[in-house]
Amino acid sequence: MSEPRSGGAYDELLALLRGRRSVRRFLPEPVSEEDVRRLLEAARWAPSPTNRQPWRFAVVRETERKTRMREAVAEAARTAAASVGGMVEEGMAPYAAMFEAFEQAPVVVAVLARRPSRVAARLGAGLSDTERAALAGDLPAVGAAIQSLLLAAHALGLGACWMSGPLLAAPDLRAILGGPPTLDLVALIPVGRPAETPEAPPRRDAEQLLVGRKGTGPA
Ligand SMILES: Cc1cc2nc3c(=O)[nH]c(=O)nc-3n(C[C@H](O)[C@H](O)[C@H](O)COP(=O)(O)O)c2cc1C
Repeated sequence: MSEPRSGGAYDELLALLRGRRSVRRFLPEPVSEEDVRRLLEAARWAPSPTNRQPWRFAVVRETERKTRMREAVAEAARTAAASVGGMVEEGMAPYAAMFEAFEQAPVVVAVLARRPSRVAARLGAGLSDTERAALAGDLPAVGAAIQSLLLAAHALGLGACWMSGPLLAAPDLRAILGGPPTLDLVALIPVGRPAETPEAPPRRDAEQLLVGRKGTGPA
């Protein structure tokens, strides 16, 4: 498939999309309140089912809290690995380190989602099929907000990484983060000035992503 090009805004957007990398090492420079506001401004314009905007954010800057969060993740990773044991336990060590890298970032944005199952339970049988379908879309919508936040960080010259590995310790992290118990933790996003410029991991060609009958995709 030839390179899709239509110039102007599309080229700029594609450059942003392609240039964004998961950054896991950060310089010890602070991230301004203004930049954090800009990240949330980008995130809040994501689409969501019936415009429910199910995303919530907790911003963690204090070293002490980040360390407690990292310790909780390390402990949960140790417990999970030990429960399997053997080669899996050894093989998990490098991944565990990836789950803990958020501690080094000056800011960690925790992304939370309003819990659809609670809402569904409250509404019970009164829920229409449409409403049920919309609730099922809440989590993907939070993912859209996360992508917007990551792209905004990249556009501001900041590095960031979408991390779900730390969710191994979700109950402990929720306790440390605070906020209403009806919010589920979806991801931790460490943000800071990048101390690395990672190579782009390869992507599948668009041709390989097309499924279904030939002729239904782009020409
Ligand atoms: C849902 C999700 C969870 C992820 N969890 C982690 C994680 O826990 N730790 C980590 O270092 N990277 C994590 N990543 C980042 C991926 O490893 C990364 O996006 C992928 O390797 C492609 O690299 P790129 O983002 O630089 O293009 C996660 C990404 C996504 C979308």
